Parts: sequence; structure tokens; C-alpha cells
Amino acid sequence: MQIDDRTVLLTGATGGIGQAIARDLRRHGAKLILTGRQGDVLDSLATELDARSLIVDLADPTATDGLLAEAGEVDILVANAALPGSARLDTYSTAEIDRVLDVNLRAPILLARGLIPGMIERGGGHLVFVSSLSGKAATAKSSLYNATKFGLRGLSHALRAELRDDGIGVSVVCPGFIRDAGMFANSGVKLPPGIGTRTPEQVAQAVRKAVENNRGEVDVAPAFMRVASTFAGVAPELSAAFTRVTGANKITDDMAEGQRSVR
Ligand SMILES: NC(=O)c1ccc[n+]([C@@H]2O[C@H](COP(=O)([O-])OP(=O)(O)OC[C@H]3O[C@@H](n4cnc5c(N)ncnc54)[C@H](OP(=O)(O)O)[C@@H]3O)[C@@H](O)[C@H]2O)c1
Repeated sequence: MQIDDRTVLLTGATGGIGQAIARDLRRHGAKLILTGRQGDVLDSLATELDARSLIVDLADPTATDGLLAEAGEVDILVANAALPGSARLDTYSTAEIDRVLDVNLRAPILLARGLIPGMIERGGGHLVFVSSLSGKAATAKSSLYNATKFGLRGLSHALRAELRDDGIGVSVVCPGFIRDAGMFANSGVKLPPGIGTRTPEQVAQAVRKAVENNRGEVDVAPAFMRVASTFAGVAPELSAAFTRVTGANKITDDMAEGQRSVR
């Protein structure tokens, strides 16, 4: 599907990666509907990109109904909003767990369900789910995030098969560590040497290319990280042992610390 003149509904537009996605899609001619909770950031981005903006709290169980009604016809969904969901599971309250599940997984499911009939009626569309390499490789102190990001990959793969004959493309985009802006950069964690990063702009480009070329799954990470996460999917026990032995689990420890206030 070409981007030019298509209407795109983007969640998490106020975040580090969301802003890069919005700018990239606009440069390629998309008509944007931007959502997030920070009204000031949303307003200035919408003005810059001549976009519509809707303030929506995706943790509100009825929010997606209102969002779908306000958005109207949508050609492309980019489900990008998320919470970090880091730290030990037993430090989370039930309300906090619900919030991570609602924002990261339930809202994308409901938005997709709501948009599919209109896309079929109009002869096509595209759904993009922003997951993570954490949707392929599980680590300690990331169980909630892993649960939602593995879930998004499963959702995306299944919908891609389910909607193929309806002319609806479905893609999952899996970034690794993203520098300069976004939830990893905001955590302030310093990575050990040899663990590479990518930029928000590279994620944005991957999202656009996934739509243009109807790609099922796109990783946005250096080769070593892509291989390591694929290995973790095939041999999770061995991968976990490797992580323990090399001390790489310090990264998720530090991220949990750096993201402590975001729940
Ligand atoms: N940064 C990375 O290294 C990295 C790596 C892999 C995958 N990802 C994925 O990339 C996507 C974007 O992440 P990011 O790094 O840009 O994170 P971010 O800067 O923290 O942005 C998160 C976005 O989600 C929105 N959001 C959070 N809670 C919400 C709620 N209750 N209702 C509505 N919107 C809500 C935020 O909106 P408000 O701020 O307006 O509330 C913000 O726009 C996420 O799916 C993330 O899992 C990121």
C-alpha cells in the first residue's frame, strides 16, 4: 500500500518513536490522526504536521470505542503506544498490570477489530503493530513487557494469515535498543560495548517500508541483536543461561530502575 494520501491512525504519537513515525509518514504524504495523552506535545506536533489529534488514555477500557468513532475512515493503523512494563512482576499492583496489558495489547486488538470491517469494505488497508525484540527474547525483570510484546507478534502473524484474502496487510515491527529518544533512551541506561542501537528515524522508516512492501515482520536492530533474539526464540533456556553467564541481565536490571516511575 502506498502512503501518499492515505489516512493513518497513529497511537503513541507523543513518544520518542511515535514522533519520528509521524514525521516520516507525513513527509511521504500521509494524512495523520495522532493520539497520545500529553495534550501540549500532541498539539504542537499536529500543528507542525497539519494533522488531526485526539487525546486518548488507552488504559481507559472504553477509550478505543470513542477513538474509532472520532477517527472515522482509516487506511493504516500504526499501534505504537506502550508502557515499559519493566521490573519484577511481584512489584506490580493489579491496577498497574491491567494498565500495561490494556495499553500494550488490549487497545491494539480492539483498534484492529474496529478498523477491519471498514478496510474490507473499502477494498484494503494495513495494520502495523510495534512490538520489540522483547517480543522474541524474554528476560528477567521484563515479564509484563515480554508478555505483551510476544502477544502483539502472535496477534500480527495470525491476523496476517487471516486477512490476506481481504487485501489487508499486517506487519509487526520489532525494534531493539533505540537511542536519542523513547522509553529506552529515557531510562538513562548505558549499554555495554558491542551492543548496538538504532534511531527512532530508522524505526519510522521500517514502519513505512513494512506498509509499502507489505512485510510480515521487520526487525530494527544490529545483526548481532537480531541473531541473538532469533536464537532466544528457538532455544530460550540456552539463551537465558547465556544472558546470566555474560552478565547481560544487568541491562534489564538497570532499565527496571530507570523506568521505575513509568507504570
Ligand atoms: N525505545 C525503545 O528502545 C524501544 C525498543 C523496542 C520497542 N519499542 C516500542 O516502540 C513503541 C514506542 O515506544 P517509545 O520508545 O517511543 O516510548 P515512549 O517515548 O515512552 O512513548 C510511549 C508512547 O505511548 C503512549 N502511551 C503510554 N501510555 C498511554 C496511555 N495510557 N494512553 C495512551 N497513550 C499512552 C505515550 O503517550 P503519552 O506520553 O502522551 O502519555 C507515548 O506516546 C512502543 O511500542 C515500545 O514498546 C521501543
